[in-house]
Amino acid sequence: MAKNKTQTVMDKLVSLTKRRGYVFRSSEVYGGINSCYDYGPLGVELKKNIKELWWKAFVYERDDIEGLDAGILMHPRVWEASGHVEGFTDPMVDCKKCKARFRADQLDQVWCPEKPSKHPGECGGELTEPRMFNLMFKTFMGPVEDESSVVYLRPETAQGIYVNFHNVREAGRQKIPFGIAQIGKAFRNEITPGNFIFRTREFEQMEMQYFVKPGTDEEWFEYWKQQRIDWYQRLGIRREKLRFHEHGKGELAHYAKAAFDIEYEFPFGWSEIEGIHNRTDFDLKRHQEYSNKDLRYFDQEAGEKYIPYVIETSTGVDRLMLTALVDAYEEEEERVVLRLKPQIAPIKVAVLPLVKKDGMPEVARKIFKALQKDFKVFYDEAGSIGRRYRRQDEAGTPYGVTIDGQTLEDNTVTVRERDSMEQVRVSIDKVQEYLREKIL
Ligand code: GAP
Repeated sequence: MAKNKTQTVMDKLVSLTKRRGYVFRSSEVYGGINSCYDYGPLGVELKKNIKELWWKAFVYERDDIEGLDAGILMHPRVWEASGHVEGFTDPMVDCKKCKARFRADQLDQVWCPEKPSKHPGECGGELTEPRMFNLMFKTFMGPVEDESSVVYLRPETAQGIYVNFHNVREAGRQKIPFGIAQIGKAFRNEITPGNFIFRTREFEQMEMQYFVKPGTDEEWFEYWKQQRIDWYQRLGIRREKLRFHEHGKGELAHYAKAAFDIEYEFPFGWSEIEGIHNRTDFDLKRHQEYSNKDLRYFDQEAGEKYIPYVIETSTGVDRLMLTALVDAYEEEEERVVLRLKPQIAPIKVAVLPLVKKDGMPEVARKIFKALQKDFKVFYDEAGSIGRRYRRQDEAGTPYGVTIDGQTLEDNTVTVRERDSMEQVRVSIDKVQEYLREKIL
């Protein structure tokens, strides 16, 4: 089967995100580097807003979860204990015809570099036998490049949480059950990255490990599944585009007793955006064994010591950004609009004088300055008002404040809402409060 039109929406979105300053190819002036991306002015805002929404739900709104920011480089023994040195591998095959490499377990999801592009093996090229390939990026610490100085770029942020379990628990005076949340970069030398920012080699994770008493883990697992699927409403994602996928025995990661993915229906099919795992006591037990440190918890109420079980929720910032963009993208007869929820939209308000004369820009500038104290605001006086609205619709800006002839007479402005395109008149002294109520 040759590559078909399912990519059209993705292609359009990729071009929109570049045009509007969401995502650029990394090192573009050098021709780019495969599956690496840079986030532009709007992209960085969208990512920040998604992270804030996640952090708020986990750390600010609860008293049983603490935050952490552990280093990317960790002691190499961490990755032996975690099982990543031995088992964080994917099966890889080479096409003997075009020499490209593919993940052997995802041949039906990827396309070969030949034109017309086909699934690997369908072009008549013979595939090699699968070989296991470790996904961790290796580097050297210090000036000597030998086996003793090898360190890894972390492939998940979770291990930074495990090795700090007692530090955080003691500092936060927490008792079990409690959790640790972290947002940070992770790196995987993926064999077949792709689908834009869906699968990349450098990405950001948002992970939370919730430590519980063994025997209560299954209950907590159900609890976190529900919490997490509910959270996507706060991101503004349509519920019918989300579903759970339970991992079968063959799919489970080496550390997991049970796992559910939350999947989103992308133009390229249903795909994982978050993993919820019951990691049992696997990680803490292994760190106890490899470090020779007692990582048990003393439960005063039960009068016993045990290694807690862990329920993990793990998602990717880049992947959620793509989810939010795909979910918000809509083509209408006269415009393309990104219906991003105001809470995550990069620019909240555009301030637009109707014309560049009669004192309108001066009034608009004053309003712009006042609104900047609360929101990321954009000022634009170039071009027709219709074109300016369209530009903001495409950028996902939920509100436009227009200063027109009537403003000069009665100190009111119009506030235009992106999705309905309806306009209401609001007096200048109330406009800030009006927008605060809608956006914050
Ligand atoms: N600590 C568990 C863990 O890392 P995972 O299912 O491998 O589990 C969790 O990854 C989440 O991290 C995924 O659901 C996805 O959102 C994100 N993620 C994983 N690999 C990624 C990649 N190569 N590019 C972008 N995001 C990725």
